[in-house]
Amino acid sequence: MTVRNALAHDAARGHVTGAARYVDDIPTPRDTLHLAFGLSTVACAEVTEMVLDDVRGADGVIDVLTAHDLPFANDVSPSVHDEPLLATGRVHYLGQPLFLVVATSHLAARKAARLGKISYAETPSILTIDHAMQANSRFEDGPRVYGQGDPEGALATAVNRLSGSVTMGGQEHFYLEGQAALALPQDNGDTLVHSSTQHPTEIQHKVAESLGVPMHAVRVEVRRMGGGFGGKESQGNALAVACAIAANRSGRPCKMRYDRDDDMMITGKRHDFRIDYDVGFDSDGKIAAITFEQFARCGWAQDLSLPVADRAMLHADNAYFLPNVRITSHRLKTNTQSATAFRGFGGPQGMMGIEAAMDDLARHLGLDPFAVRQINMYRDAGTGAPQTTPYGMTVSDGIINQLCESLVETSNYHAKRRDILDFNSNNHILKKGLSLTPLKFGISFTLTHLNQAGALVHVYSDGSVMLNHGGTEMGQGLFQKVAQVAASRFGLPIDAIKITATDTAKVPNTSATAASSGSDLNGMAVADACDKIKARIANHLGQGKPVSFANGMVTCADKSWTFAEAAQSAYQARVSLSATGFYKTPDVAWDRIAGTGQPFFYFAYGAALTEVVIDTLTGENRILRTDILHDAGASLNPALDIGQIEGGYVQGAGWLTTEELVWDDTGALRTHAPATYKIPACSDRPPIFNVALWDAENPADTIYKSKAVGEPPFMLGMSAYFALQDAVAACGDGPMTLSAPATAEAIKRAVDARRG
Ligand code: MTE
Ligand code: MOS
Repeated sequence: MTVRNALAHDAARGHVTGAARYVDDIPTPRDTLHLAFGLSTVACAEVTEMVLDDVRGADGVIDVLTAHDLPFANDVSPSVHDEPLLATGRVHYLGQPLFLVVATSHLAARKAARLGKISYAETPSILTIDHAMQANSRFEDGPRVYGQGDPEGALATAVNRLSGSVTMGGQEHFYLEGQAALALPQDNGDTLVHSSTQHPTEIQHKVAESLGVPMHAVRVEVRRMGGGFGGKESQGNALAVACAIAANRSGRPCKMRYDRDDDMMITGKRHDFRIDYDVGFDSDGKIAAITFEQFARCGWAQDLSLPVADRAMLHADNAYFLPNVRITSHRLKTNTQSATAFRGFGGPQGMMGIEAAMDDLARHLGLDPFAVRQINMYRDAGTGAPQTTPYGMTVSDGIINQLCESLVETSNYHAKRRDILDFNSNNHILKKGLSLTPLKFGISFTLTHLNQAGALVHVYSDGSVMLNHGGTEMGQGLFQKVAQVAASRFGLPIDAIKITATDTAKVPNTSATAASSGSDLNGMAVADACDKIKARIANHLGQGKPVSFANGMVTCADKSWTFAEAAQSAYQARVSLSATGFYKTPDVAWDRIAGTGQPFFYFAYGAALTEVVIDTLTGENRILRTDILHDAGASLNPALDIGQIEGGYVQGAGWLTTEELVWDDTGALRTHAPATYKIPACSDRPPIFNVALWDAENPADTIYKSKAVGEPPFMLGMSAYFALQDAVAACGDGPMTLSAPATAEAIKRAVDARRG
């Protein structure tokens, strides 16, 4: 079987040599036009006048559009139609698109876009969580509340009680390929759009809406993205819609790509959060009750903020049983970029609350933080009555205790803890820290109807196979994993399977490739399509007798055919060799307002141990070593899964350490390029980086018993943050003031506070 093999990414060579084609690499006709947005330079204002004469008169400019020039819908929102493509009357953040320039070159469009003379009547902006709370500026009437048990009662009677707060910054996706789209006018007024999107069907939908045409008049193709990380779930809509409108108006191909600065100024990022907690616990650190108040800064438009904030609530427990708990969630509206999906989709933020509380109460009791974590973990399956999450779902597939025990052993946690105590008592300037954090992440879209997928498989008469499905490739290796599924189904080698671009004309009505469910959903849909074709071939060749497909051969009793012979024979007999496949996730149903039910098909688990050292004079720091044990079920492809784990961890650690978004008092994002925004570089990865897969099948009935792996490892990066906090803690007995991101400056300040 081809699944389970550690095959390289199908495009690995192309990625490295530059041959892999992205939207911006597609050869374009000579008359192609290029687009750029003119942006608001203030955060909150009435636009009193727009003088665009200089823009229109600039070199190479063909056309300039404002909201009034749009033919139909002026909306690029993925949710509640609150996000105009071009501002109408008011602007809501600094960077908001006001007008669209169409020019003969990318540079000409960008230069002209700077020449607009815009007059504003500014009104006070709301930029921060505190300000939004004071002004009651939010996306729902009031906070949403989930919970179980009697948190108030149990807090009142708890032996120990403490309250605290953790703040965490947002995060720029920093996909290496910026947002891009290309629209090509077709016969009959139809439009073909190439888009760098995780969600081709939504691009199709928004483009159709903006042109006032049915969805069948728009075709969207996506071969690959140079990273998406959630940032291309909804944020590509504006470019694709702009290109389609301009292409329709001019009859010429139109292309748009954001330069890095524009990309960072215009598009949404991870939601930054503050989480306040109040926790009651016994002398061993076992939690009796806890309340969380989560404040999410959502930016100016709703986008995906409600489901992101839901997922933060659904992960407030992380891997711990909380018998008495209340989670309150505030979804705050601010005059900043509209925060959007980012790997983990709110889960990482939710987990930071409980993990911060764990360390806090361990320090309070003078206990090992891992011992406190361990005593609170959900029971493993088969070790007693299953426990329920704060939203009433039973954790019936628990493995977190065994998994952590195994990591404790392989990483020598206890010996390391002793070494570090030793090191720290002998060193005043350098301090080391250690943290082992567990992870439990729910797999499924919480918007239940999205848990479906389709596929289209053709077997040609020479036995070669064309594979198509609704998932998109963004570097995560989905195409290769799903090709391995098709190859395994037919008993063929991987090169018999042709991977093709995602195309709304081949598989319709798809969900975004998101929620880590790409291989779970599309793998199953492809298996379904393959099995239909197999059944037809088997029926044809076997005439009722069993037929097997293995090693490139089709066998029935003592007769066998090469797969090509079998395909040719079926073709000659007029048997259809093409099939669609479909899958929907079973067993998921919940009430997202009440916060009860089963939002997830299963959980993915993992744990990471990180060891760090800090320089207490400067705050500079290094990860010295990381050990990870992660549960990918029975892996479809261990090489790709380990790649996801390594990348996820590093990206998660980046979020909580060096990546800092800074807005000034006017609402201008000051960190809008790599010069000021520091993502981890190759040299920042742990010099010792041991990643192992937990070797067990998914108890849930998933594709070849694998588990989703795209997002969960991101949250293993929390161990880097808590290791830094552990190092800061070793500096004295003063208050712990470290918050995320733990930049060198933040660490230095926290060390000083701790030392008093
Ligand atoms: N890995 C790479 N290399 N590039 C990406 O953009 N996105 C992540 C994750 N891993 C991403 C990635 C996110 S946010 C998700 S939801 C999943 O991949 C989506 O793909 P999957 O469902 O196939 O795992
Ligand atoms: Mo991933 S944030 O679900 O695209």
